[in-house]
Amino acid sequence: MHTQLTKTFQSYFATTPLVAFAPGRINLIGEHTDYQEGFVFPAAVSQGIWVGIQKNSLTVCRLYSMDFAQEFSFELDFISPKNGHWATYVMGMCALMKQSGYEVQGFDMVIGGNIPVGSGLSSSAALSVAIGTAISGLFDFQIPKKNIVLYAQKSEHLYAGVKCGIMDPYASAFGAAGKALLLDCRSNTHEEIPVNLGEYSLILVNSKVKHSLADSAYNKRREACEESVKILQSEFPEIHTLRDLKNSDLEKVKQLLPSELFPKAKHVITECARVHEAAAALQSGDLASFGKLLNASHQSLSQDFEVSCPELDFLADKAQALDIVLGTRMMGGGFGGCTINLVKTSELEAFQAALKTPYQQAFQKTPEFILAEISEGARVLG
Ligand code: GLA
Repeated sequence: MHTQLTKTFQSYFATTPLVAFAPGRINLIGEHTDYQEGFVFPAAVSQGIWVGIQKNSLTVCRLYSMDFAQEFSFELDFISPKNGHWATYVMGMCALMKQSGYEVQGFDMVIGGNIPVGSGLSSSAALSVAIGTAISGLFDFQIPKKNIVLYAQKSEHLYAGVKCGIMDPYASAFGAAGKALLLDCRSNTHEEIPVNLGEYSLILVNSKVKHSLADSAYNKRREACEESVKILQSEFPEIHTLRDLKNSDLEKVKQLLPSELFPKAKHVITECARVHEAAAALQSGDLASFGKLLNASHQSLSQDFEVSCPELDFLADKAQALDIVLGTRMMGGGFGGCTINLVKTSELEAFQAALKTPYQQAFQKTPEFILAEISEGARVLG
């Protein structure tokens, strides 16, 4: 992709670009906890977004997207990002950098990538992080990675309308080869945990669906959590978010919350506990326990938090019934995208065969199988 992107850049702009890369991410466990300052356990993958960039001595930025085979240009002094267009991510990052005092000048940019569309590997976070890394590298701004992450998150809030947490851009920026990040979304700091899976591999199954309610439902779930916190603060005055509660508080939480809010709060509280248990299981090589926690996470996301969908439940149920699978759950925001599966490496073909035809028959769609290779985070490639 690097070479192809450089060639495309040269043919469009007749110069050689600086190229930056930012990966997509998987999440081992810890879903819908980041925006409650909880814990998550993501890792960067080898697929990602490449951005070629060069100064053009103009006040205009000229862009080309290889995926859309489309050009776009905008004036740096009149940035108006609009929801729904790929160039919004470039304008969003530029606007936020400029607001922070970075003197972004005119540039030419080519964007390419290999993240399967709609797979839930966070291509938009990878795109923003790659753009931030490229602009910072080109103008030698030396923007700290954490700030690039925060701009990427804010850009999604302001210009894409999704009140997402910090997990996706954080994993894309800070990912490490062979390691998952045990990330504390209150302090925004992480610990690297080696992912040694022995005879097992992580394989994603892309359901190839993304239900249209995904973004609005995401924001609603976030609001439901915030509402629960307000109610619970009467009895737990010291809490700021659901992250401050423990499994041992659940009984009291149940008494205080209305019946429609309790299961959502329960998910966040129990999921944070599962993240710690899963990290401990992984570190001690107890893959069976790790797998059971994945299954429990799916159950909680589907039944309590209600962010799954028939396609994801079908894939999770089928996989969990196989003895070559230690654990499976839906991954990411939900309502489509992927499941993540811990499968015996020697049985990966059997795994695919067991899921493919039944899924096709049930949903008239062919699932896509993606082997997750845990890789390094964002960087300038040169
Ligand atoms: C999306 C969001 C993340 C996180 C997950 C759910 O990927 O972008 O911030 O909330 O959903 O865990």
